[in-house]
Amino acid sequence: MSEQTPGQIPVPSRFGEPIARLTPVGPRFDQPSYTDNFYEAVGGHDTFLRLVDVFYDGVAGDELLRPMYPEENLGPAKERLLMFLEQYWGGPKTYGEQRGHPRLRMRHQPFQVTPAARDRWLAHMRDAVDSLELSPLHEATLWDYLERAAHSMVNSA
Ligand code: HEM
Repeated sequence: MSEQTPGQIPVPSRFGEPIARLTPVGPRFDQPSYTDNFYEAVGGHDTFLRLVDVFYDGVAGDELLRPMYPEENLGPAKERLLMFLEQYWGGPKTYGEQRGHPRLRMRHQPFQVTPAARDRWLAHMRDAVDSLELSPLHEATLWDYLERAAHSMVNSA
């Protein structure tokens, strides 16, 4: 082993290279110095509230989707989707406290989620996501999830 100076990591070198090259520079990789919480990074509650507001404005005027929602007023459904999405992306865990395990496919069984319904759902979500004006990376991350989730929710032809 070559000589060690304080602060350097004692890693044996196969080729007798100077160990100094392995000395970490800047933050350690196992201790992120940036926030890795998506919920916070995109603006927290206000952002998710806007997402579901714009989404449900679209649903309210949709001839195919609106009749699927059991309640007269879309408010409670909006609140459930908001709580779920906030929890999923690292925000408050209110959904779990109030509704338990999401089991989303099971909870959608009473409704005929056809490919046409999925496409309408995604079209309103697209408008909602666009209204947020997120950075391209955050937008792509959110959209990728919503698309995959919507495809997995289809339960009738
Ligand atoms: C693909 C098309 C979809 C349709 C047509 C659809 C329709 C519905 C309907 C009619 C309800 C009942 C409303 C209520 O809460 O009272 C519901 C509930 C819900 N949906 Fe969807 N949904 C779709 C996709 C999704 C996706 C992709 C997600 C998640 C990313 C989602 C999350 C939820 C949640 C969290 C609830 C409330 C569940 C609960 O009772 O706690 N839905 N959906």
